[in-house]
Amino acid sequence: MTDPQLSPAARLFVALDTPDRAVAERLIRLLSPYAAGFKIGKTLFTAVGPPIVAAALDAGARVFLDLKFHDIPHTVAGATAAAARLGVHLCTVHALGGRAMLQAAQDAVAGQPAGVARPILLGVTLLTSADQAMLEEVGLTGTPETVAQRLARLSIACGLGGIVCSPREIAGVRRIAPDDFVIVTPGIRPKDAASDDQQRIATPSEALAAGATYLVVGRPIIAAPDPVAAAQRLLEDIAAS
Ligand code: C5P
Repeated sequence: MTDPQLSPAARLFVALDTPDRAVAERLIRLLSPYAAGFKIGKTLFTAVGPPIVAAALDAGARVFLDLKFHDIPHTVAGATAAAARLGVHLCTVHALGGRAMLQAAQDAVAGQPAGVARPILLGVTLLTSADQAMLEEVGLTGTPETVAQRLARLSIACGLGGIVCSPREIAGVRRIAPDDFVIVTPGIRPKDAASDDQQRIATPSEALAAGATYLVVGRPIIAAPDPVAAAQRLLEDIAAS
């Protein structure tokens, strides 16, 4: 079940997909009042590191650290514990890393000492860039949709707090997930916006109606001539849903 109490801004994470610290800090300053927080992924974190997480937290925003950990269980547990110590709210691991890795990551979250915030651990099901040919080449059986559903089930079975999935998979996952399960979806485009390279897109209202908890939006906001106006328009779309 999604929380109907969340305000439109509390639904939105803006993807800071830039390697430039000054650009990211400007976007944080401009957009903090219009979003729950910011998604910091591999590009920005590799370029700038923990100080950009601190900058977002200092602005009063939540951080979604999207580093999609995938390694042996011990290493992923260590990385997840380090993410928790940064104070992030959401953190991703690849569900393809398997049961032992997912459980080790979840145990690392649960094992944080008092005083360290426990992030919500999200399993990344299948990247939207994966198509049938790619699955066959790496030896995964089923369609992208059935593989994503299988990985969502595994994430739930391992006690993760949520998943990242495409708009197309939200409703199916919502049917099998615990009530408080967090579903985060990228691939969101306002009506009439460019799809960029996203294949499976939805409008904010479609994604929320299907059961998304949080929407991740990057280029439609950060590449807009006026990012604040773009964010405000998106919040209007959310409010209208
Ligand atoms: O610019 P755009 O709104 O397409 O940004 C979406 C963000 O969500 C990007 O940071 C992208 O890497 C991320 N993402 C995605 N599809 C996934 C997982 C993450 O678009 N399956």
